[in-house]
Amino acid sequence: MDENPNNELREKVAPIRGMKDLYGVDFRKYQFIIDVATRIANKFGYQLIETPIVEQTAVFQRSLGDESDVVSKEMYSFVDKGGEDITLRPEGTAGVMRAISSNKLLVNNNNPLKLMYYGPMFRYDRPQKGRYRQFHQIGFEHIGEKSPYTDVVNIALAMDIFKNIGLCGVVVHINTLGGAVSREKYAKALVEYLNKYEQQLSAVSKCRLKKNPLRILDSKEPTDIDICTNAPKIQDFLTPDDKKYFDTVLELLKLWSIDYEVDPKLVRGLDYYTHTTFEFKIPNGSYQDALGGGGRYDGLLKLFGGNDISGVGFALGAERIMMLLNEKILPPLGRKVAVIPVSENEFADVFELMATLLDEQVPTELILTGSNLKKRVEIATKRGCSHLIVIGDDEKKQCNVALTEIDNPKLRNILLSKNKLISFLKEECNF
Ligand code: HAM
Repeated sequence: MDENPNNELREKVAPIRGMKDLYGVDFRKYQFIIDVATRIANKFGYQLIETPIVEQTAVFQRSLGDESDVVSKEMYSFVDKGGEDITLRPEGTAGVMRAISSNKLLVNNNNPLKLMYYGPMFRYDRPQKGRYRQFHQIGFEHIGEKSPYTDVVNIALAMDIFKNIGLCGVVVHINTLGGAVSREKYAKALVEYLNKYEQQLSAVSKCRLKKNPLRILDSKEPTDIDICTNAPKIQDFLTPDDKKYFDTVLELLKLWSIDYEVDPKLVRGLDYYTHTTFEFKIPNGSYQDALGGGGRYDGLLKLFGGNDISGVGFALGAERIMMLLNEKILPPLGRKVAVIPVSENEFADVFELMATLLDEQVPTELILTGSNLKKRVEIATKRGCSHLIVIGDDEKKQCNVALTEIDNPKLRNILLSKNKLISFLKEECNF
């Protein structure tokens, strides 16, 4: 018998496969992306929304489509203690539509409604570089305006975020899925073409040929990709109105000087898209996959019992962006003061000083570990403190402190009376 019941737990200290802890520089990168995205979204008139991480499974099943990879293979679904079939959200759009409907956010026709959200998403995908089972998205939904102008404003919002994050050379890959009439005509032509290759198609694509042929264009199987290279293109099946819509989108992109490439196979992995679809990629980047993607969706809100109102939106993949971000772009860590006693005799003095400094909104850390003053100063420096305030026997007797600014040779061991310290820190050191 195992003598130590903790042994079993010790073996389980690794996180779940495809999930990771976020800390240190990576956390700072994530926070930076969120901060920039929130600031830019605010400039574009968006408000934040947070929906629960779990929803009823039907919320995703019905909106993303049974045939999508996400629903058919990748959902973390389980039955809870009350017998309800629930799923960890694989994406944010469906939950936001559910929330708009549950809370009647569009009841007074106060459209357009522009919502931003961020947080963890879950897909039981095969983990690899840039693909995780828990990852973070920053998403945007713009509901209540169906216009090529709105589509391009959304793309411009994403490009503005990339620019402000310091990512250059992002190209928009764009396509249209047209409206229902165009898609039906196209699906017929596509099936006719794919029927000729039915035997060579992957098992999943064979099945999709009957149920949802457009999804085959999204297959990652090499043989399916080969077969699709010469498949008919949706652009040749658009109704005049749908063609005009897409042509206007492309003209407006040019007007806003946004680089784009039309990609006729860009159907996206989720079923709710209609008309414009797009993804953001960096050519020759260290990682080829999409940094984000989205498109227009008609009828999605109606599915949740809401108004029959069209929307457009996109989500950025935080981990993919973080991989391309250089640490140097991050805002410097805030300045902070270390209060350091020379010996145990001054512990109470620095403790009291810390309370005063914090009360005055000066970021402060108490450095008590380290066997001597030199070690404590090393610890404070390692912790990123910009200023050191040391109290020893002499300082204590004279009610003084010794202040040093680490990167400023002119400010070394300046003796200040405790009364003057706060005003000195604020006026001379910009705290
Ligand atoms: P999506 O293309 O499935 O769209 O995901 C958006 C982005 O999330 C991807 O481009 C990628 O950067 C990131 N991503 C997706 N899966 C993973 C993964 N397993 N690991 C790491 N990153 C990943 C959507 O989710 C739609 N809801 C976007 C949208 C909003 N469409 C309209 N509104």
